[in-house]
Amino acid sequence: MQEVINHIKSNKDNYVEELKDYLRIPSISTTSSHKKDMAKCAKFVSGKLKDAGMSKIKIIPTAGHPLVYGEWMKAKGKPTVLIYGHYDVQPVDPIELWESDPFEPVIKNGKIWARGANDNKGQNFVHIKSVEAYMKTIGKLPVNVKFLIEGEEEIGSSNLETFLKKNKKLLKCDAVLISDTSLYAEGVPTINYGLRGLAYMEVEITGPNKDLHSGSFGGSVANPINELARLISKLQDKNNKVTIPNFYKDVLPFTKKENENIKSLKFSDTKYAKELGVKELQGEKGFNTLQRLWGRPTLDCNGIWGGFTEEGAKTVLPSKATANISMRLVPNQDPKKIAKEFTKYVKSLVPKSVKIKVTDMHGGSPIVIPLDDPAILAASKATSKAFGKKTVYTREGGSIPIVVEFVNQLKAPAILMGLGLDSDNIHSPNEHFSLRSFELGVLSSAYFFEEFANLKK
Ligand code: BES
Ligand code: ZN
Repeated sequence: MQEVINHIKSNKDNYVEELKDYLRIPSISTTSSHKKDMAKCAKFVSGKLKDAGMSKIKIIPTAGHPLVYGEWMKAKGKPTVLIYGHYDVQPVDPIELWESDPFEPVIKNGKIWARGANDNKGQNFVHIKSVEAYMKTIGKLPVNVKFLIEGEEEIGSSNLETFLKKNKKLLKCDAVLISDTSLYAEGVPTINYGLRGLAYMEVEITGPNKDLHSGSFGGSVANPINELARLISKLQDKNNKVTIPNFYKDVLPFTKKENENIKSLKFSDTKYAKELGVKELQGEKGFNTLQRLWGRPTLDCNGIWGGFTEEGAKTVLPSKATANISMRLVPNQDPKKIAKEFTKYVKSLVPKSVKIKVTDMHGGSPIVIPLDDPAILAASKATSKAFGKKTVYTREGGSIPIVVEFVNQLKAPAILMGLGLDSDNIHSPNEHFSLRSFELGVLSSAYFFEEFANLKK
């Protein structure tokens, strides 16, 4: 084991150089013009799995972007870990706010800056390198390993879901290891035991059959933007509670243990508000910040458009206005049920003077992972060894919809070994990832294989 650790420590600069090549590929899954880059990135990942000593490497086509698979199954009688990650990244807009090219990584202040540095290339590369370190030193792994790296996490993983249902045997494992979440704070080893789910809706309001002069017509017909704004404002009350009927009906409350854990983490609202440049935090009344982020559902407008949005002033009463509205969900809310309640409710809110169209864009189920699973304990020991500190347990506000599917279909626990920081600007300009976290991640992964091997199959 010591050779593996030494190998990682002395190769960390090489790993960073390789990660740079990974980050140079603009693998934006949502934009069709990047289809070729997606294929290129899948090929890159498969090459790295080969270098790491994996076999049966496959680039698997789907109705969307390809999946990459590779395995090493020679640890007879030992458990199998499925390592999941995603090579797709978010779009880079607004590009003018980036301090350097999003696809030309730079190292600055001990961090690597590029789109995907944290989410998720930096975090999945950690596991490829830890496997490689074993193979290049002792020539074998203490456990069986399967890799599945997909190209559609940022657009909802629906093709992976189909693949998973048809390939349970190929993906059979004793635990799924995922690094696509966050540390509680820099240098604090963290296992995440929950993810929120999501219901993402588009609401389109149509008024008159064409754009009108706002002087000639303003005051005679409904303005779709005004109506949309009125509608959105009705979706939350003055206590920031969501007003959709039955919205909170299935929400599981926090356990006593969870509340004690939250207390022990000593979260500072003041520091958090300062970092975000706000005078005061805001959210659902009756809950503290970590409770609101981890275990309470929310409703947020993610985008709103219509009318004149160019430079200058144009007097216009628009024909249409549209908003994207997301609801983050928690156990045991069901995204389909919530989407239905939302649709019914918003339709009931608009006046007869406008038409409304509601589209359920995509969704994902929330999850809470039991902390007493031996695989979780093995992961917790591993991160603690790597970081030299006691591991803390947190839930996440974000979503990874495929995790619930892994757990349900493969009947295996999910281990969320988060390595990013909430301040890493994922989905935003100037995304970055700490090089220290990157190295500690490779070490955590290496220790995990050793700890996991000790578990009975
Ligand atoms: N890595 C994130 C999930 C995440 C975000 C975990 C923040 C922890 C903290 C993932 O790549 C992601 O962005 N997921 C989407 C899912 C959606 C597109 C269905 C999300 O949460 O918006
Ligand atoms: Zn993401």
